Amino acid sequence: MSRSVPTELSGAAEKLMRSRHATRAFRPEAVHEETMRAIFTLAGTAPSNSNAQPWQVEVVSGAKRERLAHALQSAHAEKRTSTDFPYSEGMYSPVHQVRRAAFGGELYGALGIGPDDHAARTAYDAESLRFYGAPHAAFLFVAGDGGPRLAADVGAYLQTLLLAMTAYGVDSCPQGLLSFYADTVRDELGVTEGKLLVGISFGHADETAPVNRVTTERAALASTTTFHR
Ligand SMILES: Cc1cc2nc3c(=O)[nH]c(=O)nc-3n(C[C@H](O)[C@H](O)[C@H](O)COP(=O)(O)O)c2cc1C
Repeated sequence: MSRSVPTELSGAAEKLMRSRHATRAFRPEAVHEETMRAIFTLAGTAPSNSNAQPWQVEVVSGAKRERLAHALQSAHAEKRTSTDFPYSEGMYSPVHQVRRAAFGGELYGALGIGPDDHAARTAYDAESLRFYGAPHAAFLFVAGDGGPRLAADVGAYLQTLLLAMTAYGVDSCPQGLLSFYADTVRDELGVTEGKLLVGISFGHADETAPVNRVTTERAALASTTTFHR
């Protein structure tokens, strides 16, 4: 069996992957158009089953972003949710629930919101729909029949996109919350096909915001990965 040795690429990959973090407070400056094109071109190198590339990506900036944020906040206030992919708390097993609770404690702690302060959490959700102040948001639609196999391809695109952003010095936050307002996003952007999987807010982090200092741990290798021989 040959032993793997670190290469220049493995070092760069380690640095890239470990420096990506979810950012939840942004400065208003826009990302240059050219940088955006480079990022989304690089994201398009993501693998997909039979190279079908079943993603449709809608990127929102400027006045359109303002209008969408407003429409999302109205939908939230009027409880007009619409999800293309079903969601339930029950989809998580106990071990995953424990990890979620630990993360929630960290996040809301950094925001100064207590565990039982449901009003403050709801207010934070409403604010999140303004993309945490990011100047841009990308929406990933699963094309074709929008089934789970195609959604897996779009998941691969998502991570490729997040890493491409990191490589170009652009900060991001994937926001499942945005997918709870699929009809609003569709109506505002004139999208007629596909299922909305996730939105991603992106721009440049506000380094002074305490929420951007939240750190997340990962489970030990042995608890997620088994090597069979
Ligand atoms: C599909 C997906 C949906 C997510 N949805 C949200 C969200 O709605 N709001 C949020 O603040 N973070 C969201 N996140 C970010 C996760 O909370 C974050 O990735 C996780 O806690 C690990 O932290 P890290 O990204 O900083 O490593 C989402 C991440 C993914 C991959």
